[in-house]
Amino acid sequence: MQYDTVIIGAGAAGMMCAIHAAKPGGPRVLVIDHAKAAGEKIRISGGGRCNFTNLETAPDRFLSANPHFCKSALSRYTQQDFVALVQRHGIPYHEKTLGQLFCNTTAQDIIRMLLDEMDKAGAEMRLETRLVDYSKTDPGFALTLETDGQRVPVTCRNLVIACGGKSIPKMGATGFGYEIARHFDHTVTGIRAGLVPLTFTPDETEEFKALSGLSCEGALSCSGGPYGKARFREAVLFTHRGLSGPAVLQISSYWREGLPVTLALRPDIDLLAELKRQKTANGKRHLATILSDYLPKRLAQSFAEHAGLAERNIADIGDKVLAALATTIQAREIRPAGSEGYRTAEVTVGGVDTAGLNSKTMESKTVPGLYFIGEVVDVTGWLGGYNFQWAWSSGWAAGTAI
Ligand code: FDA
Repeated sequence: MQYDTVIIGAGAAGMMCAIHAAKPGGPRVLVIDHAKAAGEKIRISGGGRCNFTNLETAPDRFLSANPHFCKSALSRYTQQDFVALVQRHGIPYHEKTLGQLFCNTTAQDIIRMLLDEMDKAGAEMRLETRLVDYSKTDPGFALTLETDGQRVPVTCRNLVIACGGKSIPKMGATGFGYEIARHFDHTVTGIRAGLVPLTFTPDETEEFKALSGLSCEGALSCSGGPYGKARFREAVLFTHRGLSGPAVLQISSYWREGLPVTLALRPDIDLLAELKRQKTANGKRHLATILSDYLPKRLAQSFAEHAGLAERNIADIGDKVLAALATTIQAREIRPAGSEGYRTAEVTVGGVDTAGLNSKTMESKTVPGLYFIGEVVDVTGWLGGYNFQWAWSSGWAAGTAI
């Protein structure tokens, strides 16, 4: 069989690319996926409502060895372009917080929209199909596809790799895209789990075990990693194994083994100033009660108990001790033991080195007709719809170039 373009991966980027590479009556475009359904990650994303883009999308919210690489695609296919598509399909959506746009009803609306657009463009799709062999020909590629144990030879002029990263292997993430990149002599940067909960050391597990399940407004910062200094102010969740919640997922992409992260609870207030004020105004109140004016009760109790001060009136506690307590609550250095890894990570940080790709088209600089788009590329967004926007923008860039 002969196709103009074969796209490996019917995820966000692959489907977007197919919509723009295909034209009714035009060149034949085929998307294959080894999964039973297209867009499985879209389906489970955003708690089933898909945070499909972010109104504040800007290149500085993406991590890459080359922070300039994402600029072209993001500026030519923007968040407003995707929102316009969603509106054309009449999909109800809302802004949740921090520019994050979610479907009102279900993420399936986004999948249906993409499948509908692919259909209109005349793109073909084969599910439960694997690429079992591939080689470069001149021009194009010779592929062997396998469906239901049946092998079919296919030739194509363009081969687009859109098979995502390694996160959530249970959903079929394989890292196959990196294998193809290396096969064609592309460099793959160090890859690791990103947007992922961090785990405590045994000592911290013991210290924080009473807090498991508690969430609090916090800020988490980290410096010294390859992407420099970062600070995120959002909710922090204590789990039985470590820390989670949006602020933690965000910082995890910047964090590296051995580095400390600094946790500040209630970063919106000067806790020491508050404690001193309370000491003067309400000296007979217990410290734990006073802390619960600022923190969830269980958290307040735990900090007071840990300091051995739970039953003490605040008037009887010296300023130095209060200062140390405020530091523990607002500038606590934690050295995570690790992360929960690809099992729960939302993304893979790192990927196909952008030095080998054209930022306007996503085409390989060394292998004509070979394209890499979406998460497989070394471009990783923040939490909040940024990763889908990269999938849409890079998929569009390759699709329109083809
Ligand atoms: P994606 O992973 O979507 O698609 C790759 C496709 O390739 C898959 O369909 C896969 O089956 C297929 N494939 C893989 N190997 C193959 C092989 N060997 N042969 C054939 N096919 C193969 N982002 C965001 O912006 N907002 C959000 O709300 C969320 N929420 C979220 C929740 C969870 C639980 C996760 C795990 C991730 C998110 N994300 C997110 C991240 C987002 O899902 C991710 O960045 C995009 O799906 C990446 O799109 P791609 O098309 O590049 O890969």
